[in-house]
Amino acid sequence: MRIEYAQQEQPRGIAEAFIIGEKFIGNDKVALILGDNIFFGSGLAHELQKAVSQSEGACVFGYHVKDPQRYGVISFDDEYNALSLEEKPKKPKSYWAVTGLYFYDNEVVKIAKKMKPSARGELEITDLNNYYLKNKKLKVRLLRQGYAWLDTGTYDSLIDASMFIKTIEDRQGLKIGCIEEAAYRAGNITKKRLLKLSGTIKTSYGEYLKKIIEDEEDAV
Ligand code: G1P
Repeated sequence: MRIEYAQQEQPRGIAEAFIIGEKFIGNDKVALILGDNIFFGSGLAHELQKAVSQSEGACVFGYHVKDPQRYGVISFDDEYNALSLEEKPKKPKSYWAVTGLYFYDNEVVKIAKKMKPSARGELEITDLNNYYLKNKKLKVRLLRQGYAWLDTGTYDSLIDASMFIKTIEDRQGLKIGCIEEAAYRAGNITKKRLLKLSGTIKTSYGEYLKKIIEDEEDAV
């Protein structure tokens, strides 16, 4: 995994990411995830693969929340086709919020460049998604019960998310979002590499990586 950073000088909205990241995107399709969003659930990888394999248009994820007025909100027809998208509506038409994980085709760069800032001075991700919706190119996938979508944008919500992750990790003895383990299980790194990585991390996290190999060897 190679990580590069680019800075947004002013808070001019999420959609500006596609202008700042234009060179990075090049001719590719692109995914955007908000840094304070956490997704968890069995089957998530499969959902993401479906979004990635979509050849054109955009894909967003809907999640049922108690307080939709804090988010972008989707309304649906009887067959769950998206009808409208509204940013932080005072009177939400549904309980389905748009999560902070978005997939777009390469057109997104051109579309973002044509956008005008909203009343709060931002290039709104919801305006961008509305463009795709109006052109019948927006796919909405619902993450139903059984998935967790948490945001960690406030101190309280960060603690809530930490407790949630800790509870499940402690109960199962399995880590959530352990990239070394994921890379190893997907066959992207060797056992030798995993062992080496485990040695460089002098915490219980390193111990966890070692245990993956030990348990495997015990099982043989
Ligand atoms: C942003 C988006 C909103 C989306 C939310 C998800 O809101 O504008 O549509 O539902 O992220 O976290 P913000 O966090 O900028 O208030």
